[in-house]
Amino acid sequence: MNLRKKLIAGNWKMNKTPADGAALVAELVATVGKLTDVDIVVCPPFVALESVGRALEGSTVKLGAQNLHPEASGAFTGEISAPMLRALFTTHVILGHSERRSLFGETDAFINLKVLAAMKNQLRPIFCVGESLAEREAGATLKVVQTQLEAGLEGVSKEQAAGLIVAYEPVWAIGTGKVATTDQAQEVHAFIRGLLTNLFTEPVAQRIRILYGGSMKPANAPELLAQKDIDGGLIGGASLEARSFVELVKAAVAAK
Ligand code: 13P
Repeated sequence: MNLRKKLIAGNWKMNKTPADGAALVAELVATVGKLTDVDIVVCPPFVALESVGRALEGSTVKLGAQNLHPEASGAFTGEISAPMLRALFTTHVILGHSERRSLFGETDAFINLKVLAAMKNQLRPIFCVGESLAEREAGATLKVVQTQLEAGLEGVSKEQAAGLIVAYEPVWAIGTGKVATTDQAQEVHAFIRGLLTNLFTEPVAQRIRILYGGSMKPANAPELLAQKDIDGGLIGGASLEARSFVELVKAAVAAK
């Protein structure tokens, strides 16, 4: 029996106004808003959380943010805290995305503080790890993933880990149309499951969803989602249109 319900999460990145986001979610709610056998999360930009949250009220679709600051409040111009996200009924938060790491200089140590802050505030982290093309070509993929995972999850308890979601996103596959092969993805997912087992014990690791992210589309999703340790997807481009996102959700339903 599979202990893990599949999860399809949309990372809208810096796309959609509050009105556009609400309109997209209204379409999702109308088509897949009552599903219970697959989890769905949408992660709009901060300014659209409120309108999107309102549009998904009464549905099973959950609301996620794309980042947070580890402190609850204070002099951090331009930042948003976990309690602020909770006040808008956000339940999930993407942390450690490669764009935050590479474009905004986020270190493993800083990401770790964010993960701990999310956990403390009952937000489920969608914690991202993944290697660059240069790292893959140098044969360093597993080492890089291990370092990011262990450093990012330092101090997370076994009890807290039960609420964790991990996303493996090979940087070279993000927004490039170049998807990892199922073997490449499954190898890293299984490796991550092993690391989670060492950190949190086997029963906990067996319950943690590990999503794949990087050019996942309706055409390649069924094969990826059929892999033993691929428990869903973190979707960028294909989450911006209702039709492709719904198709991905249906692929997850079919793969469950
Ligand atoms: P794409 O699906 O656009 O490749 O983006 C993946 C991603 O970065 C999701 O977080």
